[in-house]
Amino acid sequence: MKVMVLGADGYLGWPLSMKLANKYDYEVIGVDNFSRRERVREIGSDSALPIRSMDERIRAFEENFGKKIIFEEGDLRDYEFVEKIIKKYRPDVIVHFAEIPSAPYSMIDVHHAVETHENNVNGTLNLLFAMKEFSPEAHLIKLGTMGEYGTPNIDIPEGFFEIEYRGRKDVLPFPRQAGSFYHQTKVHDSNNIMLACKIWGLRSTDIMQGVVYGTRTDETAVDERLVTRFDFDEAFGTVINRFCAQAVIGHPLTPYGKGNQTRGFLNIMDTMRCIETIMRNPPKEGEYRVVNQLTEVLNINEIAEKVQNIGKELGLDPVIERIENPRVEAEEHYYNVDYKKLGEMGFRRKYTVDDSIRYMLEDLIPHKERIEKYKRHIIPKIKWREGLSE
Ligand SMILES: NC(=O)c1ccc[n+]([C@@H]2O[C@H](COP(=O)([O-])OP(=O)(O)OC[C@H]3O[C@@H](n4cnc5c(N)ncnc54)[C@H](O)[C@@H]3O)[C@@H](O)[C@H]2O)c1
Repeated sequence: MKVMVLGADGYLGWPLSMKLANKYDYEVIGVDNFSRRERVREIGSDSALPIRSMDERIRAFEENFGKKIIFEEGDLRDYEFVEKIIKKYRPDVIVHFAEIPSAPYSMIDVHHAVETHENNVNGTLNLLFAMKEFSPEAHLIKLGTMGEYGTPNIDIPEGFFEIEYRGRKDVLPFPRQAGSFYHQTKVHDSNNIMLACKIWGLRSTDIMQGVVYGTRTDETAVDERLVTRFDFDEAFGTVINRFCAQAVIGHPLTPYGKGNQTRGFLNIMDTMRCIETIMRNPPKEGEYRVVNQLTEVLNINEIAEKVQNIGKELGLDPVIERIENPRVEAEEHYYNVDYKKLGEMGFRRKYTVDDSIRYMLEDLIPHKERIEKYKRHIIPKIKWREGLSE
């Protein structure tokens, strides 16, 4: 199987590229423009775990596992580049991670909102057109987010629901209610992919992914040159990762507002296993399929308490300090999500938040000084109403 991983330098893209080449012997073609590295630097921060250049990563991977990863540097916003790589490799599967993944980044100002839209929506459109021309049979696995649904006061199905309205019934896309301009780009992508499947017969799995946490996978743990990035700043650090980084340097754990915001989560190693499962169970020609990808539902206060308790067992002393919520979001709400499709395809979760926090803290402790160095970027300065404030 020939798999193209778009966004292969990222938090998820690098470990997935290694997993597919190592465990499954797939031919892997990674693609990236290294923009995540630049954007984290723009925020003023850096990965807590030091990461190597792509050349060094690929060399170290080959040395350790005896397998190759092909890499193409380029930008999905450039249609000629996208056309060139799809035509050259004609992949069986395309895993599309290559977007700006940050809600706060998209809320800084008009320029960052537009940049996030241009990057995510246009990049995906370029890809859809190139697939139509040169690899219409390929399975597009696209990373969306559970944030596309927002927090409705009813159950959240997997993409579609049956509705009866004025005496007639239909199965329709479940309403999307994004909470940031970033999340909105994912909604636009979903609509564009659904249309491309309908009019051109492409096949796609649109993953509504929960928040991913974790410091390692089987392959990244083998050699320090193979680690994946781990961000903890206000824009690119997701909540469990950020709380673990805070705990390690004795910074208070900072739930936003009341902290009762409830979300879906999954460990990075389970994320890899979910995507492999989806790869082995492709949709039919013309099918647009939505899968909710999460393994646990928790609220932010529960997570802070877990990090606090496990941190104490390791001799850390994290305190919890709720701070003003920079976002505009419900702080108390109903949340009941379906996530059955992955189970039906054979996926079983291996990890929980409880199992993972201990080793995450242990992995981060040796990098305490790096976290200290950038700690001023943890507390949010980007606010949904006012934008960036100093
Ligand atoms: N990490 C999470 O918790 C999470 C949760 C839900 C959804 N997602 C989605 O999963 C995907 C991967 O997330 P991640 O955490 O690995 O993000 P990431 O930023 O680490 O990875 C994305 C990679 O794509 C690259 N990229 C971005 N725009 C590009 C472009 N125009 N051309 C070429 N390369 C480009 C970046 O340089 C980066 O290496 C994203 O689409 C994100 O929105 C992530």
